[in-house]
Amino acid sequence: MYRWLDERLDLERFKEKYLTKAFAVHHSYFIGEIALFAFVTLVITGIFLTLNFEPSTRLVKVAGKDLPAAYASVLYIDSLPFGALLRSVHHWSASIMVAAAFLHLLRILISGAYKRPREINWFVGLLLLVMTVGTAFTGYSLPFDAFSATATGIGYGIAGSVPYIGEWLGQVVFGGEFPTYHSIPRVYSLHVLWLPLILMALLAVHMVIMVKQKHTQPAYAKKVAPGRILGVPLMPQQTYMSTILFLLYLAVVFFIAGSYIAHPIEVFGPPTATTPPVKPDWYLTWIYGILLIIPGDLKIHLPFGAVMNSEFIGSMVIPGIVGLVAILLPFLDTRATKMRYMELPTRHPARTAGTFALLAFLITTTMAGWKQELGISAGTFWVIIIGSMIVSYLVVYYGIILIWGRPPKDDPDA
Ligand code: HEM
Repeated sequence: MYRWLDERLDLERFKEKYLTKAFAVHHSYFIGEIALFAFVTLVITGIFLTLNFEPSTRLVKVAGKDLPAAYASVLYIDSLPFGALLRSVHHWSASIMVAAAFLHLLRILISGAYKRPREINWFVGLLLLVMTVGTAFTGYSLPFDAFSATATGIGYGIAGSVPYIGEWLGQVVFGGEFPTYHSIPRVYSLHVLWLPLILMALLAVHMVIMVKQKHTQPAYAKKVAPGRILGVPLMPQQTYMSTILFLLYLAVVFFIAGSYIAHPIEVFGPPTATTPPVKPDWYLTWIYGILLIIPGDLKIHLPFGAVMNSEFIGSMVIPGIVGLVAILLPFLDTRATKMRYMELPTRHPARTAGTFALLAFLITTTMAGWKQELGISAGTFWVIIIGSMIVSYLVVYYGIILIWGRPPKDDPDA
């Protein structure tokens, strides 16, 4: 059979050209793979969910009660054999994909892997992260319980606050003022079709660029085989390692998902006129936190009568500044030669300290999402956020210099 196919498709040449490629080995490279496994798991469990989910807010009678069809169909999914487990695996995998993509970004950041020649893959990666969060957010609204309807309503408010195009954006993403009859079908098509397609295309580009440019090498490769590519062949070693990691991933995610069933919609019930106290999922809580502490009367007037209100500034402008710094990074931190080895965080104190300042910002703005529960005022929170960024930068920067000394200037691969 193999010979028959080889004669027609020249499989041997393909094997030699691609499957023998040396793959650098380092534990931190597995984080990107975990994001990939989470995506595959999401697609497979998502197919099961679509077979039983009804994307509609029409009312259906269940046990004498009028319930939105989307909500009722999720109750039905939960009642199927392993239905609640698979829905929980889907939900947990979404969280794991976002977390793994972010940790992967941190790895690229502190090892300098965004530099020449990998700038394009850094941009593709940033897009991947935004699209991953977008896909997770659209999935959140679908069960149409009191929790998800409120959280999606916050998203609709944010889309509507964009100057000039807010109303149009609300129409495109939410099918009109949320929740209308069109909202769930619209968000559904984004969640199960358009966003996954975009993710697949971006992932394919990401992988092709990575193979073409060759992966950065861990620092040990320079000592063991200087100037040469060190790694294991894609087939069979790397494939075996990845398969084992995928199986481990499945074992862990099924264990977590079975132990903690995600988003139990019967606890929240169908949407009601009174809004329950809802916070977005953890990866969006930092934006929610900023919205809680930004002065509500903040307004910037724009030409043609448009206004940038506090909602837009808190949810788009401030995160947009973080995104802009990320986009500009490969141009601000350049190097003269192509990068082959991962850079050591201790040899780049300013970049490492900046990474810690970013983490301090994300942690403290996330904490602001619990402003009421913590009983801390908005003003105090701003002091905590800015203060923790400055302190963590200075502590990490001078800590590195104190322990490892000032970095030498003459080693481009340090
Ligand atoms: C959202 C899902 C993502 C997936 C599934 C993914 C997957 C991967 C994988 C499997 C690798 C090779 C192994 C490794 O270096 O970890 C890789 C490399 C890379 N990724 Fe991602 N990635 C994602 C997001 C991102 C993000 C958010 C960034 C940065 C903004 C990024 C930038 C890069 C770069 C620059 C490389 C080359 C690294 C090197 O040569 O050292 N990726 N990605």
